[in-house]
Amino acid sequence: MKKAKAVYICQSCGYESGKWLGKCPGCDEWNTFAEEIITPRKKTERKSTAKSAPVSLGDISMKEKSERTTTGIAELDRVLGGGIFPASVALLAGEPGIGKSTLMLQMALKLNRNGRNVLYISGEESPPQIKNRAQRLGAGADQLLLLAETDVEEILFHLKQSQPEIVIIDSIQSIYYSELSGAPGNVSQVRECAAKLFQYAKENGCSIFLVGHVTKEGAVAGPKILEHLVDVVVYFEGNIQQHRIIRSLKNRFGPANEIGVFEMLSDGLKEVSDPSKLFLNQREDSTVGSSIACSYEGSRPFLVEIQALVSRSNYGTPQRTVSGFDYRRLALILAVLEKHAKQNFGIYDVFVKIAGGLRIDDPAIDLAVAAALYSSRQDQLLRNDTVYIGELGLGGEIRPVSFVDKRLQEAQKMGFKQVYLSGRNFKDSAIPQNQYLKILTRSSIQELLAPRKN
Ligand code: TYD
Ligand code: MG
Repeated sequence: MKKAKAVYICQSCGYESGKWLGKCPGCDEWNTFAEEIITPRKKTERKSTAKSAPVSLGDISMKEKSERTTTGIAELDRVLGGGIFPASVALLAGEPGIGKSTLMLQMALKLNRNGRNVLYISGEESPPQIKNRAQRLGAGADQLLLLAETDVEEILFHLKQSQPEIVIIDSIQSIYYSELSGAPGNVSQVRECAAKLFQYAKENGCSIFLVGHVTKEGAVAGPKILEHLVDVVVYFEGNIQQHRIIRSLKNRFGPANEIGVFEMLSDGLKEVSDPSKLFLNQREDSTVGSSIACSYEGSRPFLVEIQALVSRSNYGTPQRTVSGFDYRRLALILAVLEKHAKQNFGIYDVFVKIAGGLRIDDPAIDLAVAAALYSSRQDQLLRNDTVYIGELGLGGEIRPVSFVDKRLQEAQKMGFKQVYLSGRNFKDSAIPQNQYLKILTRSSIQELLAPRKN
């Protein structure tokens, strides 16, 4: 029989190596390797049981869309792609203390109140502690089933017994499989337990939510290794004072990159249905270096404030610092401003921040970033009733953006008076005008920044 052998596994990405390494070749993280003992499985002759059989596409009966179960929390439904998909496994990840257990318990209580058979399994808190939290959340769903268990085989036994429709495992790092050595939370344990639960979900048509912890650096038995396995990945992203943002990074059954916004109150997470208001609320009256962008995340537009600070550098190499924005895009926008708008940033430190803690990848905010940088560099106020929408090309041209109608509607709804964007956004140069929102088209950054009466 083969002997158990020690392998070194990167706790961040799951890379395996026969010897300890300082830096992981898989994810470039330092000091993430931990020794794990792998016991080879016994080899037994196995005959196929022919449980599965191929079916032709035409014979598959399509279940109705309405089969999705709504969680009772609209912002969560949105991020899940319209509710809980039958037999799906979702990962809800985030830093400790951000509100994962709170959100899951709130969902469980709502589902239970709607007559769903839910089981909340906690490996971290005792039933009295959970009850205490439920009371804080204004419970009233005494039928909700709780289970405090960390052994995955025990969990599977209970699942088979009580056949719940929806299961919450809080957290995947706290449960273990007794056949594996190694503490709960290490990569082999997390992977094996998740795989077992995944298989159960698919075979029994039950939907499972796995709660996963990430540290600030995203390390430690990272839920990263689970991302490939599960159907839906939702991350707690921002943390602006009492606000919490969740975002779907992957969704096998719906659009990814969908955002949900909540406010953490003393009685749980409350939905924020008008996020633009939230991001703009924090804005002081006009300041130099501030502009408004309209980003499109998932399936809705958001207005956000972009803040830039350009200040003379006291050190040899000027700094470029970004928050919520891609560093390379900043370099590109600065280069475009230097080349095509004759703005010199060579001896200046540059800071760019998306106010509100949101991370934005939508290139349509380029123009607002450029405007904010210009404003700070020139010490010139921008009008605070204006939204800048457009992607910047290398030639300084302002490029059209997608979903322009929805973006304009959002700007109008939030009371803005004028919008700058690319003329190429409108077919046959028919620019829609109305009395509330003035649409100003510009073809390049030179044209935007050149003084011109309008
Ligand atoms: P929790 O859901 O336990 O975080 P996680 O499971 O992600 O580790 O949330 C903990 C924080 O939320 C804690 O600091 C207290 C706060 N909180 C509220 O502000 N209001 C509430 O109603 C609840 C239940 C928690
Ligand atoms: Mg928790």
